[in-house]
Amino acid sequence: MCGIVGYIGNENACDIIIDGLKKLEYRGYDSAGIALYKEGKIQVRKYKGRIANLEEHLKNEVFDSHVGIGHTRWATHGAPSDENAHPHTNGDSTIAIVHNGIIENFVKLREWLETEHQVTFRSETDSEVIAHLIGLYYEGDLLEAVYKATEKMEGAYAIGAIAAAEPDRIVAVRKDSPLVVGLGEDCNFIASDIPALLKHVRKIYLIENNETVLLTKDQVKIFDQNRKEVKREVFHVTWDADAAEKEGYDHFMLKEIHEQPKGIYETLTRRLDESGKIALDGISLSKEDLDRIDKVYIVACGTAYHAGLVGKYAIEKFAHIPVEVDIASEFRYRDPFVNDRTLFIAVSQSGETLDTLAALREAKKKGARILSVVNVVGSSVARESDDVFYTWAGPEIAVASTKAYTTQLVCMYLIALYMAQLKGVIAQEEYRRILEELKAVPDKLREFLKKEKSIEELAKKQYKRESAFFIGRGADVGISYEGSLKLKEVSYINSFAIAAGELKHGTIALIEQDTLVVALATQDQLYDKMLSNIQEVKARGAYVIGIAKASNREIEKQANDVIYIPDCADEVAPLLAVVPLQLLAYYIAKLRGCDIDKPKNLAKSVTVE
Ligand code: F6R
Repeated sequence: MCGIVGYIGNENACDIIIDGLKKLEYRGYDSAGIALYKEGKIQVRKYKGRIANLEEHLKNEVFDSHVGIGHTRWATHGAPSDENAHPHTNGDSTIAIVHNGIIENFVKLREWLETEHQVTFRSETDSEVIAHLIGLYYEGDLLEAVYKATEKMEGAYAIGAIAAAEPDRIVAVRKDSPLVVGLGEDCNFIASDIPALLKHVRKIYLIENNETVLLTKDQVKIFDQNRKEVKREVFHVTWDADAAEKEGYDHFMLKEIHEQPKGIYETLTRRLDESGKIALDGISLSKEDLDRIDKVYIVACGTAYHAGLVGKYAIEKFAHIPVEVDIASEFRYRDPFVNDRTLFIAVSQSGETLDTLAALREAKKKGARILSVVNVVGSSVARESDDVFYTWAGPEIAVASTKAYTTQLVCMYLIALYMAQLKGVIAQEEYRRILEELKAVPDKLREFLKKEKSIEELAKKQYKRESAFFIGRGADVGISYEGSLKLKEVSYINSFAIAAGELKHGTIALIEQDTLVVALATQDQLYDKMLSNIQEVKARGAYVIGIAKASNREIEKQANDVIYIPDCADEVAPLLAVVPLQLLAYYIAKLRGCDIDKPKNLAKSVTVE
């Protein structure tokens, strides 16, 4: 989704901002722009297309500017175009702004500005109203004008603003859209996301909702809603800037697939104490709390939702608590049955997905206890939860989620086992057995990834397909959904996933000669049933790729190709089974020449409804 970078200091603002915007490219965007000072005026350059296009336009210009704001836009209001790109300015271009989020009352504000203040708009965006509002209230003090403008605005925003008459300051404000401030030596930064700043700073202020920030090159002041200055602790970023680079891999997606053994290991071991038991330090869920809980809701979007499906399976099996898994955009509008006996688990890589955040707030209002499973430290979902269970995937750059997903699965297992033990409903041997199985996964996965070439070969046979079906049973259903989503989002193949037993209730009508079916058969207790389902589709002419455990060779008689995952307990098989599906999607997309890390129409973090 849209990205913001702002800089104030002694260096060349243009280069620093463009470089920072490039670090946010992974979030998805369709246009890019920058506003800088030149000869006492604000100069704006903004174009549809990639940052490279903006750079091309800038290459013959010299901007000796030390202050500026830049933006990558992901279109919501108004198509991708030069006019709709940010920054936006007021009528005489004395104010420039960049904005992430949505101004919900922009139609009313636009009408008001047009009729009462004779403002002429140049774009179709909601964001342009912000520049005109600030311009309207500007009387030589940008901070004051931003305060007044935000009083008029409804919706979600992270805004960076500059004024031609005040070349020594940037003002930024946040409501429901991420905003961070980077603290440098003789310079300061704003950004919508930390990776944009890591080349320059490690000290960060995480800006809270309804806070306004005044930046000069030597000072940062944060003010709350009542315009009172607030003190903020510095957040030290511990992860490496290299973690956000490709390190020799062709794509971030492939690099992140390969980082899964490490991510799983970290997520797991950081939650085990010296005796090898699960210790959820900092998570205050006691036995008494748990005794009160009669229902768990797991709510998320996309891949994170798929992690929730496996979470349901684990929590119900181990902890014996009924679990409902819901899509966040549905949950919030259907008056769900939630009360103070509900544990609401929000799952989100970014921690900024607006639908998930809104669902969380809805559940909180109704008295639910909020536990979140989040990858980005200090994100909105994390901050608004009662307890946070961080995944240790490291920064995930590719739009298609891989390592965040497998680390989310680890959290789901740990939460399920922890609750089971607190409630006293799991035998010690069973608890130990599952933990041992989980601990063995990183090494098994490392071994499996060495055979990646065979999946690339398989992709060569399949990449021209127009459609694909994914089927599975039990825990494999969630993996089928995830495998199907991976394939469609990176390769644009029309793919569909369904519980194998449900096929014959309609969908089997679509299976014909040579239809590709990926059949997951990793669950021992359902293995024979899956073999029957494979026979069913084979009988209609399907081409079947089976996924099974190494010891279960019977499947070879039915499937055209088989990918074997290492032997493991059924319960943890999803962690291993999803990886060949990620690789298959990756290699198919590569052979089709797709923009794998930035698939069309998609954004990494969806901060709009
Ligand atoms: C798919 C994918 C998305 C996200 C979804 C939720 O590969 O990445 O489906 O899982 O947009 O995002 P988060 O986890 O950031 O809330």
